[in-house]
Amino acid sequence: MSEKYGYKQNLKFDNFTTNLRSNLCGQLDSSFIGKKVTICGWINKRRDHGKLIFIDLRDFSGIVQIVFDSNYCHSAYDMAKDFRSEFIISVEGEVKARSAEAVNPELPTGEIEVIATNIVLLSTSKTPPFMLDNRAKVDEMARLKYRYIDLRSEEMQSNLRLRNDVTSITRNYLGSNGFIEVETPILAKSTPEGARDFLVPSRLNPGSFYALPQSPQLFKQILMFSGFDRIYQIARCFRDEDLRADRQPEFTQIDLEMSFVKSDDVITLIEGLLKKIFRETIKEELKTPFKRYSWKDSMERFGSDKPDLRFGLEIRDITDIFASSQFNVFMNILNKKGCIKCLTVDDGSRFSRKDLDSFIDMAKKYGAGGLIWIKVEQANQFNSPISKFISDNEREKLVEMLGLKENSLVLIVADEFLKVCSSLAAVRLYLGSRLNLIDEEEFNFAWIVDFPLFEWDDREKRLSPMHHPFTSPSIETAKLLESEPLKAGSLAYDIVLNGNELGGGSIRINDIEMQRKVFKLLGFDEKRIEENFGFLLKSLEYGAPPHGGVALGMDRLIMLIGKLDSIREVIAFPKTQSAFCMMTESPSKVTEQQLAEVSIKLDDTKKL
Ligand code: AMO
Repeated sequence: MSEKYGYKQNLKFDNFTTNLRSNLCGQLDSSFIGKKVTICGWINKRRDHGKLIFIDLRDFSGIVQIVFDSNYCHSAYDMAKDFRSEFIISVEGEVKARSAEAVNPELPTGEIEVIATNIVLLSTSKTPPFMLDNRAKVDEMARLKYRYIDLRSEEMQSNLRLRNDVTSITRNYLGSNGFIEVETPILAKSTPEGARDFLVPSRLNPGSFYALPQSPQLFKQILMFSGFDRIYQIARCFRDEDLRADRQPEFTQIDLEMSFVKSDDVITLIEGLLKKIFRETIKEELKTPFKRYSWKDSMERFGSDKPDLRFGLEIRDITDIFASSQFNVFMNILNKKGCIKCLTVDDGSRFSRKDLDSFIDMAKKYGAGGLIWIKVEQANQFNSPISKFISDNEREKLVEMLGLKENSLVLIVADEFLKVCSSLAAVRLYLGSRLNLIDEEEFNFAWIVDFPLFEWDDREKRLSPMHHPFTSPSIETAKLLESEPLKAGSLAYDIVLNGNELGGGSIRINDIEMQRKVFKLLGFDEKRIEENFGFLLKSLEYGAPPHGGVALGMDRLIMLIGKLDSIREVIAFPKTQSAFCMMTESPSKVTEQQLAEVSIKLDDTKKL
């Protein structure tokens, strides 16, 4: 079993002695030679060598080789003949040293084997749908359907033990910093966090619904109003949104709230927590304080508010160079107050025409009108679809500003600021991996601060909160709220790790008038404010201390510590991309009677 997470060091093997076993499989080593042991486990592999049968017996602690020798104990040997993979057995036997040529240095128990003297079959198994040794090649849908088998794998056992370590370190750390853990309702009221709610019909209140919490946001704030000072939760959160490798409909946050704090207090506390988690799980010493970038800086330089900082390749702004461009597309964009930005790669010759076309597609996918490339040839001549529109002056300025040389490749996007940023961010990430610029061993953390309070929702044609509606505007920009709300800044902070949004938080609004104003700016009318947030406004009437908090995506954190590709690898029973549980086949239909009890009638014109 992998030593990667160091969890074995924390196990006291003696605690596992029971009436059915004396020891664990992975516990046995040369210090046991000559001793009698009883071990239990699953048959990992069986090899039949005529008069000798070898079984690799597996429990969570590791694998040990058992030998069934027809000359030594015929009855045990006879039974072993019929054993198959994943049968569960108990073996009594004597630990012996393996002969020198049979020592397996790959296996922690590789110096010894157990010579079976007695054996009990505890459970049989059908032929498993896949072999654990072959897990990496097995279709994920099959692994999710037979999750109870998949969870037997070394990888899943390690991942869930890592998860356990992260939660227990978190509980210890927060407890020793004065936090108490308070549970809050799962049958809750909708608090908008940017996703759709999962609704639960109420039998006792026909026609009314609970919402599963998208986060415990308002409850944790209200606990501050109640004077608890510091609370946390390893919180289950539910969001009905489109799923990706780092998103699940139900996921877990390390969620906390503190009173009488400024942003720096929360940030320092989280840095301490992450330092401890990384040290005690994978023995990685994180350097704190983490870097900080303003939202604007992060967008300008990396095109994203969750930049991967393991490599440079920064975006450059070349709007000024093209201020009097003769190229129609640039002219139009500049007239509409858009911008022109680019990425530059030194060795452009390695990119084929097909690659260049794929960059154009990438930019379009992220909302920009397209992408323009320039290849620098000898004597700084430009080869580009728009070379005839680039004046000598513009060319010289580009060469100087971007340090262009023969073979440089410039990838330019011109459009609205956010579209330019997101398209170049996607190209930057692609190039980072294609050019091998990323050190996979690195953990590169940063805080993104000074976010705008609002962003413009083009579909709904209204302001929408950049974080959530309870985030405080920054003091200096609060005066812009009515006149230029999109220029108002907030007291929010996000933490990013290797290009992933690991968490986010803010100092909250604790003033009722400010909270009302923000709701109104978001376009909520009085009725909606009263219906959705009446209880919050009421609670703000009775004294609310300055407070702030944060939530870390715990599944994402564990995925990144474990260097895994998907949060499904760190969740025991995750859902698929279409929010389906392959093992339990949920969601599923319910009976007419169940529906009637909650006063729900299905629309049978819809295909169900
Ligand atoms: P936010 O919505 O930014 O903040 O969520 C915090 C972190 O939770 C993780 N996360 C997810 N992980 C897996 N699957 C999902 N569907 C998913 N959605 C979010 C991310 C994210 O950074 N109440 C605020 C926090 C606060 O202000 O204190 C909140 O929930 O890692």
